Amino acid sequence: MNDMLEKENDKLEKENSNKNNFNYINTADDLEKKGIDARRIRKIDFSKKRAAVESVFDERTVFHLNKLLVNGPLDTIEGIISAGKEANVYLAYDLNGNEVALKIYKIDRNTSKWMRNYIVGDPRFKKMPNNISKLIYLWAKKEYKNLKRAYKVGLNVPKPIVIKSNILIMEYIGFGSIPAPLLKDIKDPKNKQELFDDIMIFIKDLYQKAHLVHGDLSEFNILYHNQKPIFIDISQAVDIEHPNAEKFLERDIKNVMNYFEKIGIEFKDAEKFYYQVINKSNKNRV
Ligand SMILES: Nc1ncnc2c1ncn2[C@@H]1O[C@H](COP(=O)(O)OP(=O)(O)OP(=O)(O)O)[C@@H](O)[C@H]1O
Ligand SMILES: [Mg+2]
Repeated sequence: MNDMLEKENDKLEKENSNKNNFNYINTADDLEKKGIDARRIRKIDFSKKRAAVESVFDERTVFHLNKLLVNGPLDTIEGIISAGKEANVYLAYDLNGNEVALKIYKIDRNTSKWMRNYIVGDPRFKKMPNNISKLIYLWAKKEYKNLKRAYKVGLNVPKPIVIKSNILIMEYIGFGSIPAPLLKDIKDPKNKQELFDDIMIFIKDLYQKAHLVHGDLSEFNILYHNQKPIFIDISQAVDIEHPNAEKFLERDIKNVMNYFEKIGIEFKDAEKFYYQVINKSNKNRV
């Protein structure tokens, strides 16, 4: 087993057996109180790592992670980038010493409930898995497949590398050990109009070229790297044949519109844009 993981697990065991030392549980509780987005941690935050390690590293995840460390492509896991409700994201290194992002989905009944809305009706998935682990594995694979589809048509998403059960390895977006910030954390992006255009083109190309709708697009799921948007968190994205695809598309457009309104860019033709996105596609697909 990777040294770091082993040490981490040892530490956890010790802390679990020491009833007076519940600091990490308080941290987790505090995190729980703050809503999903407030919980996102911008820098590698080692103080939160214990809580994060505990909540995703069940026995099977450790087993699969160990395999990825022993057989590659992983070399080391460096630290946590984000501890969330559905998944934790870590900075890791591959065998060539390059950074990769490691997203580990939690096998958790509560977070899995809403997922069915984004699976049932997508022609790629014939039936809902009947146990939680299988559902989460499918969910992780869905993100991998969605990333692949988007990446293949040249969209600005992290390149997917490996999917193994609930562990997704993808291209890391950042400079060295500093991960790229989310758009929501950029006070005043310089190139607002260009940024807006890039995001609109992404929505359109994702629909027309990758035949997907993101479904959770907002400044919370767009990284700002080299003054360009990189689109992440695409597990819930549905095929455009999904019965709610258009509803999700409308919501994505509204979210982006609201964000740009806040930073002083008005988007008057949202409806026209929406029809452009779906009509063009209909023509293409005939
Ligand atoms: N490829 C990547 N490179 C660098 N940072 C990343 C990458 N992917 C994700 N992150 C960071 O991890 C955070 C969480 O990732 P993501 O949005 O995919 O997970 P999530 O499903 O929103 O998790 P949760 O909703 O449980 O917080 C992102 O906000 C971003 O800061
Ligand atoms: Mg997210």
